[in-house]
Amino acid sequence: MGGHGQPLLQVSGLRRRFGEHEVLHGLTFDVRAGQAVAVVGPNGSGKSTLLQCVMGIQPPDSGSVTLRGAPLVESDPAVRAELAAVDDSVDFFPDLSVAEHLGLLAAVHDVPDADAVVRALLEEVGLTEQRNQLPGTLSSGQRRRLALASAFVRPRSLLLLDEPEQRLDGQGVDWLIGRLLDEKAAGGAVLFASHHAGLIDAVADARCEPGRQSG
Ligand SMILES: Nc1ncnc2c1ncn2[C@@H]1O[C@H](COP(=O)(O)OP(=O)(O)OP(=O)(O)O)[C@@H](O)[C@H]1O
Ligand SMILES: [Mg+2]
Repeated sequence: MGGHGQPLLQVSGLRRRFGEHEVLHGLTFDVRAGQAVAVVGPNGSGKSTLLQCVMGIQPPDSGSVTLRGAPLVESDPAVRAELAAVDDSVDFFPDLSVAEHLGLLAAVHDVPDADAVVRALLEEVGLTEQRNQLPGTLSSGQRRRLALASAFVRPRSLLLLDEPEQRLDGQGVDWLIGRLLDEKAAGGAVLFASHHAGLIDAVADARCEPGRQSG
C-alpha cells in the first residue's frame, strides 16, 4: 500500500478545557499508515476527549487535526469514508438484525461481495448464531462485537477505537489483537484508547498520554 510511513493523521497543539479544567494541554502527535498509537493514562486523563476531538464529535478549543494534511472535517463525505470509529456512543437501529446492520453498512460503503464479507465477519466475531437477533436481545459482549464488526465491515484508512477491549472475553481480546495487527499489515492506521496492557503491548507502535502533556 502506498503512503506507508507517511503521517496519515496529524494532531497538533490540541487544547480542550471544560470550565476551569484543562484536559488537553496542547497535544501533538502523528499516526502513520501501518501504525497503531495507544492513548493511555488513568481514568479522567482525557483519552476519550482526545478521541472525540479527532472524530469531530467535540470541537477542540485550539489546535488542529489533519488527515493527509487537510483539516479533518467530519461532515466531509471523503473524510467520513476514511474513518471508522467505535466508542460508547455507538448505537444500533432497534429493529434491524445483526446481519442487517452489517449488510446496511456494507451497502452504504459499496463493499464488493457484501454478502460474503458479512457472512465471514459474523463467523469471525462469533455472531453467526445471533445473525437474526435484534441488537436489544444481544449480550453486552455480543453488542460490543457487533459494534467492532460495524467498523471492520467498511473500508477505512483510520480506525478510532475507545477501549475496544471493553466487555470482550479473553478469546475476544485475542481476536481483537489479531485484527489490529492485520489492520496495520494492510497499511491501516489505528488510534485506540485502552487500559489493557496485553492489547497495548501487542499492538501499539507508540503511546500518547494526554494526561502527562503540559502546555
Ligand atoms: N462535557 C464535559 N463537561 C465537563 N467535564 C468533562 C466533560 N467531558 C469530560 N469531562 C472531564 O474531562 C476529563 C477527561 O475525561 P475523559 O472522558 O476524556 O477521560 P478518559 O481518559 O477517557 O477516562 P476513562 O479512562 O475513565 O475513560 C474528566 O475529568 C471528565 O470529567
Ligand atoms: Mg474514556
